[in-house]
Amino acid sequence: MVMVQISEAEYKVLRAIQSMGGSAKESELSIDGLSDRDIASAISWLEVKGLIEVDRREIRTYALSAEGQRYLNKGLPELVLYERLKEKGEMTLDEVREYMPDTYRIALAQLAKFGIIPKGGKISFRDSGIEEVIERRQRYLSTLDPGDTEMLDHFRHRSGVIEEKTRIERIVRLKDASYEAIAGFNGEDLIGTLDPSIISSGSWKERNFRRYDLNSPTSSAKGSLKHPMTYLIEEIRRIFLNMGFTEMSGHFIESTLWDMDALFIPQDHPARDMQDTFYVDGENFKIDHPEISRRIKRIHEKGVDGYSGWGYKWSDSESKRLILRTHTTVNTARYLYENNIPPQAIFSVEKVFRHESVDWKHLAEFYQIEGAVYSRDVNVSTLKWILRDFYSELGFRDIRLVPSYYPYTEPSLDVIVNVNGREVELGGSGIFRPEVLKILGLKAPVMAWGMGLERLAMMYYGLTDVRDLYNTDFEFLSSFRFDTSNYIRKIMDKV
Ligand code: PHE
Repeated sequence: MVMVQISEAEYKVLRAIQSMGGSAKESELSIDGLSDRDIASAISWLEVKGLIEVDRREIRTYALSAEGQRYLNKGLPELVLYERLKEKGEMTLDEVREYMPDTYRIALAQLAKFGIIPKGGKISFRDSGIEEVIERRQRYLSTLDPGDTEMLDHFRHRSGVIEEKTRIERIVRLKDASYEAIAGFNGEDLIGTLDPSIISSGSWKERNFRRYDLNSPTSSAKGSLKHPMTYLIEEIRRIFLNMGFTEMSGHFIESTLWDMDALFIPQDHPARDMQDTFYVDGENFKIDHPEISRRIKRIHEKGVDGYSGWGYKWSDSESKRLILRTHTTVNTARYLYENNIPPQAIFSVEKVFRHESVDWKHLAEFYQIEGAVYSRDVNVSTLKWILRDFYSELGFRDIRLVPSYYPYTEPSLDVIVNVNGREVELGGSGIFRPEVLKILGLKAPVMAWGMGLERLAMMYYGLTDVRDLYNTDFEFLSSFRFDTSNYIRKIMDKV
């Protein structure tokens, strides 16, 4: 009989199983000098060579999701509400919503299952023996004991609190052939990895190579995924292109002439302050289309068509300062100046820069979704119609325009999106003022809008911290799933 060859690692694994009484779980094997990967590969080899028996068992494990973790720290929504009710006796639904804006829906739904149901806009405390159940649930979050099937069942049927993972556990058992292999092992170390020294020394001639096992388990590779921001930007492009818009683009570094003066922003406007705007050093930078500055000067100083202008002395050198563009409305200004025959429908999704301190809601560089329509048919109702169409494509059905102020539009309107009762401001819009049309040499009205992309992305993906969008943790990034209907459902659950 030809003895089956085994490697040193395989020998060690066989000995380890032997010392554990002839059978062991793979996860219990711990062997000096071998990593878990080495052990896994040795087991696969031994199985292929018919030297051990292997049983496979599916193991389920449970972990808290990010949401579950929050409940562990701050209390399950139903517990939080129950305790508050106990204290107060009675609360109006508005009070409940205010007390726990992110979780009141879940809390109300859970308490309703115990018959604590709002009546006439109020919800009252009732001692119906549920405290014990809710406290058990709360305790369960810290144990996640798979043996407590009642609690496990509860949380498995409740979305988003615990995450279930399965892995395969291999149970290995020695057989007669195993003992023969152990006895016959001659200490020969097969070449597993070929390195230059083995080749140059010629030692490979005296040694044996280990064969490849194409069936041995390896960790599974993830397919390539789009970054969540890339995905959303592509979605937005697709929506605008389908609506017949043309994409425009501009530059990070701009002159204040184009970023601000051309849009009739006065030179003493607070947004130009060093606190708000990043200025860039640089002399002799050639500003394109400088011919526009004569028109800008006249209109800033004296106005046009019965409008009085700003009545100050406009400074040419101030207009030549360089900045990181503060908004992408500068793209619109440039595009329309260069393409002044109506109609035009344009958009861009590009980065802008503001001197902000970074927190959960603010970034110093962020994307703006910019758009404009230049046509005789432009008015506030077409503006509202276009914005409504755009947002509803993304899954946000309820938007509202409220009066606002921008130096370059009249009227100016801020866009507010309603996500299940919560209102979030997404950006500005309006109809360009006559001064701006004159500066840019335009013959028809223009409606324009500029919106923060990251705010939108937070709602789209159900995030509570804007910085998460630029988190570089691979596990976190690969947890995003791109299906609009899914996200909207997630938003519904959360709010
Ligand atoms: N540019 C404005 C901003 O940065 C938004 C805006 C664009 C307002 C177009 C009106 C018209 O917030």
